[in-house]
Amino acid sequence: MIHDIGEYFDTALALVKAAGNLMTEHVSGCKKFELKSCAIDLVTEVDKKVEETLINGLSNKYPTHKFIGEESVAEGTKCDFTDDPTWIIDPVDGTMNFIHGFPNSSISVGLCINKESVLGIIYNPMLNQLFTAQKGKGAFYNDRQIHVSNVKLLKEALVTFEAGTSNAEEKRQVVFQNFEIMVRNAHGVRCLGSAALNMAMVALGGADVNFEFGIHAWDICAGDILVREAGGVCIDPAGGPFDILSRRVLCASTPELAQEVASTIVQLYPERD
Ligand code: IPD
Repeated sequence: MIHDIGEYFDTALALVKAAGNLMTEHVSGCKKFELKSCAIDLVTEVDKKVEETLINGLSNKYPTHKFIGEESVAEGTKCDFTDDPTWIIDPVDGTMNFIHGFPNSSISVGLCINKESVLGIIYNPMLNQLFTAQKGKGAFYNDRQIHVSNVKLLKEALVTFEAGTSNAEEKRQVVFQNFEIMVRNAHGVRCLGSAALNMAMVALGGADVNFEFGIHAWDICAGDILVREAGGVCIDPAGGPFDILSRRVLCASTPELAQEVASTIVQLYPERD
């Protein structure tokens, strides 16, 4: 079957932009939320509404396509990843930021065909930041083509990573150890509070490397193609090939930097998606 990626992209982009209005109604934060797996893993009605809007809009137009959405999986839908066209959706990536009114949260939508991401959209309506990529067509920030930096050494790199949304002790220890390693060895460290926006910053060249353990497919699907189309690399944090279901990601401006970070950090292997 021939897939018109450009047409899929235009449809998804229109839906994502419209869904952004559901978020901008809460620029000062969204104080009503529920807990999911633990006290720092949160969901709001807006997360659910954005996901429903996107899945309804896309499935009406493409009834044979499949979906993996953060909130549907949280409510018990199986995470079924096949060769079929599969939309992977994080309706509000950075829900903690969204709740507090810290304007770093995004709608992150990727489409995989034959298990490879072919388009990605990361939209932060709070700051009007739109990052997009389609396979073979480059990566864009608000319609301007973007490229990763040329940084090859950790000591020259601005690094982003996160404490994440699990407060399990083993995870916490690894975060603390890696924080110390990065503070000692990198040029600078930042935490944006949105895995998708962290990856978008690598694509933009504003940051040079990002890694995280415990993220999910919906946090990184769009970021993966965005970084690659911007000329960067996306790998497993131990140095091997990227695996979208592994709950592990490392993306960087250059392979040299990616491998240096992979060999420097303490590893964690969460249960797969
Ligand atoms: C989370 C954010 C956070 C990252 C977590 C993600 P959510 O996504 O991206 O920055 O550290 O790993 O789960 O839960 O806000 O969609």
